[in-house]
Amino acid sequence: MKIGEGVAGHTAMTSAPVIIEDAENSRLWSVKVDERTHFQTKSILSVPLLFREKVVGVVQLINKKNGGVFTGRDLRSVEMMCIPIATALVNAKLFKELEQTFMETALALADAIEKRDRYTAGHTRRVTRYAMWIAEEINLPAAEKKWLALSGILHDIGKIGIRDNILNKDGPLGSGEFETMKQHTVFGAEIVEKIHSLGKVVGGILYHHEKMDGSGYPKGLKGEEIPLFARIISVADTYDAMTTDRPYRKGLSSEEATKELEKMSGSQFDPDMVAAFLRRIPREVRDEN
Ligand SMILES: [Fe+2]
Repeated sequence: MKIGEGVAGHTAMTSAPVIIEDAENSRLWSVKVDERTHFQTKSILSVPLLFREKVVGVVQLINKKNGGVFTGRDLRSVEMMCIPIATALVNAKLFKELEQTFMETALALADAIEKRDRYTAGHTRRVTRYAMWIAEEINLPAAEKKWLALSGILHDIGKIGIRDNILNKDGPLGSGEFETMKQHTVFGAEIVEKIHSLGKVVGGILYHHEKMDGSGYPKGLKGEEIPLFARIISVADTYDAMTTDRPYRKGLSSEEATKELEKMSGSQFDPDMVAAFLRRIPREVRDEN
């Protein structure tokens, strides 16, 4: 509904309530709405939702229950209800904007880390996308998906603490270097732990290199001791690492990489997460081509 269009649009445009006793004979009412919905509109009470004198929405009541017309008293009752509704609406909008800004800030931070690591351009975004595919396949609730996305975005944030000569080494790392590299999980968790509201994403960052058989790092957790987000990110992260070219090896094809995931399902990866990813990947690869 556009501003100025129909009864609600008129209410929004004028910031004033409207009482219509007989919709059919009102110039504001469009009979097309009823034709489309097969509903019969008779009386209307339309009230603007005001927040600091600005219209943030419109509440519309249609057809008074007893068949009568809406009165000034009805209007006053609705106006009283509109105050908390308008406040809740504004708060919800602000919260959404804040959340969006927060996600974008996290992505910008992750991009900044990637700029240091010349082999992993786009890695964070791809890992997050793959993690979301798994989340959808296992029907993860929407609220949890947001936290998982943030875990995906921030999973390698600890690489900020790894020296360039190790982070950008041309070739496999030596054992001492690998021990240093492992620290990125701990560094990442330490950074994020400081932000109280991000408590839910710490597990996904700290444990994304753990393996189901207990041979991973940093703690050597086993099976479901590994938080769910970490078990999801682990599959997404490894698939991306396998399918991306490195200076010392060419990336695997999607088919080859999924075969590898299958081989390591149960020992390295949670079989349910691998199964979810394998269910999804053919569709995504087909859509890409
Ligand atoms: Fe990592």
